[in-house]
Amino acid sequence: MKENPIGIFDSGLGGLTVLKEIAGLLPYENTVYLGDTARVPYGNKSKDTIVRYSFENARFLLRHHIKLLVIACNTASAFALEEIRSALPIPVIGVIEPGAKAATAATRTGRVGIIGTEGTIKSGAYCSAIKALAPDVKTFTQACPLFVPLAEEGWTDNSIAIDTAAAYLAPLKKFGIDTLVLGCTHYPLLKKTIARVMGPGVKLIDSAEAAAQEVRRTLAENDIANSQKSAPSRRFYVTDSPERFIKVGRTFFGKELSDAELAYLEALEYGKEKE
Ligand code: DGL
Repeated sequence: MKENPIGIFDSGLGGLTVLKEIAGLLPYENTVYLGDTARVPYGNKSKDTIVRYSFENARFLLRHHIKLLVIACNTASAFALEEIRSALPIPVIGVIEPGAKAATAATRTGRVGIIGTEGTIKSGAYCSAIKALAPDVKTFTQACPLFVPLAEEGWTDNSIAIDTAAAYLAPLKKFGIDTLVLGCTHYPLLKKTIARVMGPGVKLIDSAEAAAQEVRRTLAENDIANSQKSAPSRRFYVTDSPERFIKVGRTFFGKELSDAELAYLEALEYGKEKE
């Protein structure tokens, strides 16, 4: 069991920012990553669709005998975490709770901003998670959909990125927040630009880093951390175009991806596994 891999899924390649943090913190853990590149983006789709996709992704990873599942996608964490968690026999970690915890620990003024996809922001998941932890903290949100294609294009610190960030973040600046949650897999790539626009008084919370810490805690609590100290196995699966994933994924993962295979997901009717 301890040597079994950690499963991670995302709507595409953005979740590699989460895998990067997990690999940095837990260098001996084996991992299987699934990027649903055929159906990306998740950020503008309905809850029902995201829940259905998430079950299909989880089911694929379970076939690889994973010992723990990480939902790296913020949108999928926002919409599907609870249902996946109650249906699966293994621990399931999303990125929202860890990000919310880190934000409540970081804020001094009790004014926290959250940026994410349209779906994540509409779901209110970060706001509820923060309210549950610290009822006095005030939250302010902003969807930043253009950050996703900018990150994938590698336009993370040119004038277009800076202007886009300035336009999206202006309302949050007015609210006088002192902490800003980067609530989307792609946003860590724009960290420098976002920091520049927000100014030095605003602390940025990277949900990917916070989720990796949560993975470490959960492995220890359940006594399922890998005790073997050898080079880990890293498998990558995508539902479309492994070539593009390998090419663009490098920027998100921080180093070359060895290989990626095509995954065939069982198209399930949502809810079937509960019957
Ligand atoms: N992975 C998604 C998220 O973190 C961003 C990309 C998408 O919209 O699918 O919400």
